[in-house]
Amino acid sequence: MELKKEFKCKILGFRYDKNRIPGIDILLNDKQNFKFEETEIITEHTPGHTSGHIIFFFKKEKYLFTGDTLFSFGCGRLFEGSYLDMVNSLKKIKKLPTDTKIFFGHEYTSNNLIFSKNLTQNNKALKTNYEKFLKDLNKKKFSTPSTLEVENKFNIFLQFDNEKFKKEINLNHLNELDFFKKIRDLKDNA
Ligand SMILES: [Fe+2]
Repeated sequence: MELKKEFKCKILGFRYDKNRIPGIDILLNDKQNFKFEETEIITEHTPGHTSGHIIFFFKKEKYLFTGDTLFSFGCGRLFEGSYLDMVNSLKKIKKLPTDTKIFFGHEYTSNNLIFSKNLTQNNKALKTNYEKFLKDLNKKKFSTPSTLEVENKFNIFLQFDNEKFKKEINLNHLNELDFFKKIRDLKDNA
């Protein structure tokens, strides 16, 4: 509310969150197109972290604001949604253009990379890869924006439908949902 006052901005949110977001001005639906000045944006409902979570995709610029649904090499915790909700929400993100630049709600990347490195420690190629990302991050200090190409390939929370990757970390006996559940649970207890 203080920011709203100071910057005279409008607060946008998902329609069903209208009673829980103080000062909300514009109520958005799932898959709603709207314009911010000359920029065309589409919003998508991505429940999982919260029940009314939405993401914003800037169509022409290919910028995606994922809030707390997707992080670089991670994803949001499940506070209000089910594992299935989150998998379905992540699938919506996965199918966007691969050169989409992703802006996250939190810079948890280094933590996520350490988790990824530990999880893949028995696969030398994968582990080395995460070590390299970690080294680059330590130099740069921040990871935002990432690209969907990198996340689709290396974010472990997005590998639920990648049989090759699952096999590489000996989790190919798990179906999509069970794989995601396993990874999410491991991270929650890490
Ligand atoms: Fe959050």
